[in-house]
Amino acid sequence: MKKLGILLSGRGSNFLAIHRAIAEGRLDAEIAIVLSNKPDAPGLEAARALGLKALAIPQQGKGTEARAAHDALMLAELWAHNVDLVCLAGYMRIISPAFVAAFPNRIVNIHPSLLPAFPGLDAQHQAFDHGVKVTGCTVHFVDEAVDHGVIILQRAVPVHDEDTAEALAARILEQEHIVYPEAIARVLSGDYAIQDRRYLRRSS
Ligand code: GRF
Repeated sequence: MKKLGILLSGRGSNFLAIHRAIAEGRLDAEIAIVLSNKPDAPGLEAARALGLKALAIPQQGKGTEARAAHDALMLAELWAHNVDLVCLAGYMRIISPAFVAAFPNRIVNIHPSLLPAFPGLDAQHQAFDHGVKVTGCTVHFVDEAVDHGVIILQRAVPVHDEDTAEALAARILEQEHIVYPEAIARVLSGDYAIQDRRYLRRSS
């Protein structure tokens, strides 16, 4: 059974969607550890309530050395739990190049826009304010640049004239919860090739 390590900083709804997909047999994996840089992240509490191992590793500053030290502690936990795939699920911290190198093409992230449009914070509001007619969400491998790695799966969400940014964000989130477990299942299957920036499925 493949082991997932989940990294989160907030409410953890994507983590819960992954957990639900496993419970419902849509994703053949187990969550080995949930880690957070925020001790008060609601997602950590939710993980503990589900009987999962969940740990806070608080960040100590934002400089290069502090980041490296924090990432080293995170990596030690992921290795100790034999994690195969690291899933960032609202993890609001940029991970160091050493972290990326420790799990090559084995770290995935979900972002609430159709990348490369609207990287960075508050992507749903960015898209709404820009006036796009279609936005969505993207699951991608993590590389050293923010919201940049090879795209695994995307789902489009239309923007309606009567939308608010909040209503749009809620509809994007619904799609995130569908697409993230599906993308994780695809990656764990190993049935893909990466050519330059293109993720290509081998079967079906
Ligand atoms: C999601 O919108 C995700 O796309 C982004 O951060 C948010 C996390 O939400 N990376 P949650 O903690 O999973 O509910």
